Amino acid sequence: MDRLVIQGGSPLNGEVQISGAKNCVLPLMAATLIASGRHSFSNVPHLRDIRTMQSLLAHMGATSQHNHILQIDSSDIHTLEAPYDLVKTMRASVLVLGPMLARYRRARISLPGGCAIGARPINLHLKALEQMGVEIDLEHGYVVGRAKRLRGAVITFEQVTVTGTENIMMAACLADGVTVLKNSAREPEVVALADYLKRMGAHIEGAGTDEITVTGVHELTPSSCEVIPDRIEAGTYLVAAGITGGILKLKGCRPDYLQAIIQKLSEAGLSIESSGDSIEVRRKGKIRSVNIETHPFPGFPTDMQAQFMALMALGSGVSLIKESIFENRFMHVLELQRMGADIDLDGRTAIVRGVRKLSGAPVMATDLRASASLVLGALAAEGVSEITRIYHLDRGYEAIEKKLSAVGAKIERVRG
Ligand code: EPZ
Repeated sequence: MDRLVIQGGSPLNGEVQISGAKNCVLPLMAATLIASGRHSFSNVPHLRDIRTMQSLLAHMGATSQHNHILQIDSSDIHTLEAPYDLVKTMRASVLVLGPMLARYRRARISLPGGCAIGARPINLHLKALEQMGVEIDLEHGYVVGRAKRLRGAVITFEQVTVTGTENIMMAACLADGVTVLKNSAREPEVVALADYLKRMGAHIEGAGTDEITVTGVHELTPSSCEVIPDRIEAGTYLVAAGITGGILKLKGCRPDYLQAIIQKLSEAGLSIESSGDSIEVRRKGKIRSVNIETHPFPGFPTDMQAQFMALMALGSGVSLIKESIFENRFMHVLELQRMGADIDLDGRTAIVRGVRKLSGAPVMATDLRASASLVLGALAAEGVSEITRIYHLDRGYEAIEKKLSAVGAKIERVRG
């Protein structure tokens, strides 16, 4: 298994090109199942999760090729099943459920199971589908869905769910009648998916608000689109500049996706200037300790919690970090403590007392964003850190060691 070796202490300076958003590409790839034919997507990053979704679609009969453009041909779907060996590595596989039911009215999907950051059930997805007339059975660890027809329904999500909103929006595109999703997720990736579905001929209103209305149509036709920039990758590099005391210019961003992140990083003492699709970030003085609480968009994103904690580990006071989305998203705490961070946990709140310095140490990545926080800690630490199990990192950060080296980081990937 590969590992990263990082010599900390170098301020990062230069430009970083932000890649397309993993959490935008994955639902777009699933949506190709709804419309038979050739779809193409630009600005698609080369990531492990994208390759996993390509494997899942290939298992079902959809061929794809990914150079600069990701092309998917869903003309010959022959298997309506997402097998355990693929779903267990990527929970987002559940996104093929809605499209399969929309177009074929049948689906067999392995239950995703838990992951490092929590149980992550799909009960809200299934409850909504049953309201739309889908008969759901659980058989040997698989969800089996069948329906004569999908019918429109008024669905209120008890809890905001990103992929739940995406799955039901896709299922509703070809249903009979109107489906209203209440308390729906407002993430930019949900809006981007709605935009693509509309390009394919779907009738959708309200994406980006907490109430989305979908009027079913007879069929959709393949199209193409450009993937939106990755707001979590961008946020991660904003923290990288702050934690190393450098100056970075991020290119190819959407600053409007980053408002909550920019707000909190500005309070923490970073100077952040946006202009068009660029953001310039530098640290003005010491890192100020700031409290955060994670919330669905447009609140502070849970996917930035671990990265923000790394910055607060070097804060000037005490920061309270409350994780209100997932029940176990503090796996990075133990590893940051190995670098000298002073962090206590009280249920879903981390109490982070800033220390003067972190020290390099051997640490282990446990999940995608936890591994990003360890990279950030290592970049600021005195001495050398070695991060193992970085396959977690490769799920969501394209060429991270190349991008960091190009702005002055002393980082090397050691093939294992
Ligand atoms: C999406 O996951 C993202 N993944 C996650 O990003 C992100 O952390 C999460 O949304 C929250 O923003 C993709 O978009 C592919 P949820 P998702 O359904 O949809 C509970 C990353 O780092 N819940 O919004 O799986 C759930 O347990 C990944 O890129 C139910 O109880 O998250 C959680 O506590 C990690 N029942 C909360 O809701 C359900 O049926 C929010 O989960 C569904 C969700």
